This record gives sequence, structure tokens and C-alpha cells, in this order.
Amino acid sequence: MRFYVISVLVLIPLLSLLSLIQPFVTGFVEKPIGPEFIEPQLGPGDPARGEALYRSKCYGCHTPAANIGPAQNTADFKVRYADDETIVFVVRAGRQPMPAFSEQMLDEQQLADIIAYLRSLPAP
Ligand code: HEC
Repeated sequence: MRFYVISVLVLIPLLSLLSLIQPFVTGFVEKPIGPEFIEPQLGPGDPARGEALYRSKCYGCHTPAANIGPAQNTADFKVRYADDETIVFVVRAGRQPMPAFSEQMLDEQQLADIIAYLRSLPAP
């Protein structure tokens, strides 16, 4: 037990020291700057475009009238889906009977727009 504690106490500072030394050994990597190296950034979702998309791709099920998919403006939904990643995960994976929406069916920006729209919905 004591050996275990000591080895952890020694290993952690040792590893953090090693990570400090590492650039001296492998050389400092300069990140190139310039337009060609800037990763494409998703613009923030546009709720107006999101609404149009939602109406054409999701509303058929996710409406009180259709009553197939759950409503997405409930307090419960807002809590469970507080994180955008969770919505992305469900939409990409699909959920019986909801189809999995692939990149071809709904690209990243469109998904961001839909999420922005869902976030803009007032509580019932
Ligand atoms: C074919 C009908 C259908 C379509 C189209 C559909 N959904 Fe769904 N969706 C469902 C059903 C049914 C569920 C509930 C599945 C379950 O019981 O877990 C669901 C669940 C969800 C959930 C999880 C909700 C929760 O409370 O757990 C999200 C988020 C969601 N859908 C988003 C979308 C979005 C965004 C679209 C459009 C891109 C979409 N859905 C299109 C039927 C559909």
C-alpha cells in the first residue's frame, strides 16, 4: 500500500516534469498561422434557418399533433438536453422510429441551425 502511494506521489511530478522537458527534446513545434491553417469554424446556428429545416425534417413527428416524437420545448427536455452534444448524438444516431440523420441528410451547419431553433423555443 505504502509503495503504491509513494509511487503515485513520485510518478505524478515526474510525468509533469517530463511534459515540460518534452519540447526541448522533440523541438518546439510552431503552429503555422495563416488563412489556410485556420480550421473551418461552424458559424453559430441561425434559428430562422433552423426553423425551416426543423419544419421540413423533424416537425412531421415532433409536434403535438403528430404525437410521434416528444415535444422539444418542455422543461424536462431543456434539462436533459442542456448540452448541444447530446442533441447531436441522438440526431446522428437516430432512435427507433426516428431515422439516423447522416451528414448527407443534415450537415453540421444545418444541425447547428436546428439546435439554435430548439434553444429559441419558448417553454410551453
Ligand atoms: C419519423 C419520425 C421522426 C422524425 C422525422 C424525427 N424524429 Fe426525433 N424522435 C422521434 C421519436 C419517436 C423519438 C422518441 C424516441 C424514444 O422514445 O426514445 C424522437 C426523439 C428525439 C430526440 C430525443 C428526445 C428526448 O426527449 O429524449 C431528439 C433530440 C430528436 N428526436 C430530435 C429530432 C430532430 C432534430 C429531428 C429532425 C432533424 C427529428 N428528431 C426527426 C421521431 C422522429
